[in-house]
Amino acid sequence: MVSDQPGVAERMASTRLLPVLTVDDAGQAVPLGETLLQGGLDLAEVTFRTPTAEDALRAMATVPGLCVGAGTVLRIDQVDRAVDAGARFIVTPGLNADVVRRCLALSVPVFPGVATATEVMRATDLGLDVVKLFPAEHLGGVRMLAALGAPFPALRFVPTGGIDAASALSYLRHPAVLAVGGSWMAPAGLVRAGDWEQIRRLTAAAVDALASLEVPR
Ligand code: 3PG
Repeated sequence: MVSDQPGVAERMASTRLLPVLTVDDAGQAVPLGETLLQGGLDLAEVTFRTPTAEDALRAMATVPGLCVGAGTVLRIDQVDRAVDAGARFIVTPGLNADVVRRCLALSVPVFPGVATATEVMRATDLGLDVVKLFPAEHLGGVRMLAALGAPFPALRFVPTGGIDAASALSYLRHPAVLAVGGSWMAPAGLVRAGDWEQIRRLTAAAVDALASLEVPR
């Protein structure tokens, strides 16, 4: 193992849900993080898609008990900024070897997006054993994941992209799926509106639904 990926990966394996967040106002980061915890989630991905993402990440990383990472990380300088802001892990939409190597050099777990067997092979060559499948629903959903994962029995996936409360469960029943990511637990519109009550409700519903999984965690 070339990074401390097991630490965050283990938390993903136990939490099973990774809320993908778009935060426009850094002042909302702490209440949002606290809301996720109240709903039962101790993981969060703050996407580098807004000018305030770095400040939001820095603020959310101070919430005790919450493991916060950075998403939509496209370049090495963003890795450095995210880690400096307190990111405990990095998520990328695609596979960039330089970005992956920078994370590994910093001992920061990285979950790059893959969409093909070739990309999976590049990821495993880089020493990774957990990848994001992105955009999972548009690529073909659980059937695509099962087919793509078959030649790589040791690999675990964090499918993300187009997943909602209902489809999340079908992914989570697949043994190759570590956790599922998505914005449905904390949609950007509700974050923007500061509707913590509704986000708490969506988050708690997603966590409660995990009880219906037949496959043991
Ligand atoms: C991501 O950045 O991983 C996705 O945009 C989140 O996907 P969703 O908004 O379709 O859930």
